[in-house]
Amino acid sequence: MRMRNKYRKPTTFHCNAGSRCSLSAVVWSLVGCLLMLHLYSLVCHKDGVGGDIQLRMSHHPLFRELEEVEEENIQIPPPRGKRSPRAAKRRPKRTTTLIDEFLDESSSLRHIFFPDMKTAIDPMNEARNNSFYYSPGRIWLDTEGYPIQAHGGGILYDEKSRTYYWYGEYKDGPTYHAHKKGAARVDIIGVGCYSSKDLWMWKNEGIVLAAEETNETHDLHKSNVLERPKVIYNEMTGKYVMWMHIDDANYTKASVGVAISDSPTGPFDYLYSKQPHGFDSRDMTLFKDDDGVAYLIYSSEDNSELHVGPLNQDYLDVTRVMRRILVGQHREAPALFKHQGTYYMITSGCTGWAPNEALAHAAESILGPWETMGNPCIGGNKIFGLTTFFAQSTFVIPLPGLPGSFIFMADRWNPADLRDSRYVWLPLTVGGAADGPLEYNFGFPLWSRVSIYWHKRWRLPYGWIGKK
Ligand SMILES: *[C@@H]1O[C@H](CO)[C@@H](O)[C@H](O)[C@H]1NC(C)=O
Ligand SMILES: *[C@@H]1O[C@H](CO)[C@@H](O)[C@H](O)[C@H]1NC(C)=O
Ligand SMILES: *[C@@H]1O[C@H](CO)[C@@H](O)[C@H](O)[C@H]1NC(C)=O
Repeated sequence: MRMRNKYRKPTTFHCNAGSRCSLSAVVWSLVGCLLMLHLYSLVCHKDGVGGDIQLRMSHHPLFRELEEVEEENIQIPPPRGKRSPRAAKRRPKRTTTLIDEFLDESSSLRHIFFPDMKTAIDPMNEARNNSFYYSPGRIWLDTEGYPIQAHGGGILYDEKSRTYYWYGEYKDGPTYHAHKKGAARVDIIGVGCYSSKDLWMWKNEGIVLAAEETNETHDLHKSNVLERPKVIYNEMTGKYVMWMHIDDANYTKASVGVAISDSPTGPFDYLYSKQPHGFDSRDMTLFKDDDGVAYLIYSSEDNSELHVGPLNQDYLDVTRVMRRILVGQHREAPALFKHQGTYYMITSGCTGWAPNEALAHAAESILGPWETMGNPCIGGNKIFGLTTFFAQSTFVIPLPGLPGSFIFMADRWNPADLRDSRYVWLPLTVGGAADGPLEYNFGFPLWSRVSIYWHKRWRLPYGWIGKK
């Protein structure tokens, strides 16, 4: 699997091994650095800590304990399988990494990444203990005791019913390969919907947009692909609008589909699909801004860049406005959020079902330019950090009343049995100085740092749950 380290910004004062760094250059660099730091502190004092330059933690104190760094110490078993001494000599022995173990269905560490049903989180049972703990990677049951089926999901907070709705791919079917080189897949079953008041205990509201069983030319025919459904509410029309990635089994259709409903729990009527702005579109998401303007963000040009553009007033189509962002960076699985007027986005690299390194990006305007800040993942261990905790971003949930605090939602895909893919929900905070020095600001932290903290087990602050 590929790591996308090459997109990391180089450190500012870097001496190559081959070139000699003269002493005077180092001294002058240091003097320059100190001067800049001094100037920076002056600016901060003068303006107070405001705008985008923020050094203090801006999020809620209740959230702070979730920022403790939790380490994972996993012993990697010795390489298995018989190998003749000669073969071992000839081939340079590859060190077994945690990623190999993760991708190996028969690994003795399987239970760490995909704990079995015995450890499932059952809110109906645990609620009596007033637990409310998230356990990333464990099976998560709904209020009827069935594993939640809402992969590649997104959350809508419905003001009218004061309820959270979680929409995602309902994948409770067999995993297979349509042909030899095809990716692992599950036939379309539909979009699952779950409701909750506390973001922890979820009631199954059924399949709100179902696959088409017989009509083979229909976008939703079960042999096709429906991924990453996202729902937003349109105040003007009073409709709930769903956008999703629509594709054929070979991912050549590369389109978005649109569906509409009068109720958050459906049923949704499927309207049509298209290639937005005339471009291929695969992983996508929606973002509804404070002013009611909604945006479609999608991976395009064969996943080499992202496109962002506003929807029209009824949210049923894109407009002609589109900007290319993160060009040449090969990012997918976008998840957007906003904090104090700044837009943030988490993305993943493009390595199919295998996990890779997340990156955080920031922008003053949603249409760009977007700056890449670096890897937001903290804790676990090095490999956890380089694999987004063995998961892939799908959504970021704002927490009303806890400014600067969010829940990061990701999918831990299980390509051997996609229905058994797990949810990795973790606390995300915005605050402190970004660690990646950026091009346009002479190394000053223009953006706040985005941090996602690993926890084996964590919960929202006591005071918060149910209070809105
Ligand atoms: C709830 O608490 C009881 C008593 O402390 C304990 O025996 C039980 O295992 C707990 N249940 C869960 C699901 O944690
Ligand atoms: C099958 O689906 C296509 C595309 O949605 C539609 O145009 C056609 O009318 C449908 N055929 C039947 C028999 O429903
Ligand atoms: C997908 O590709 C395979 C192999 O190239 C081909 O046999 C198959 O017909 C294609 N399927 C679709 C739905 O395009």
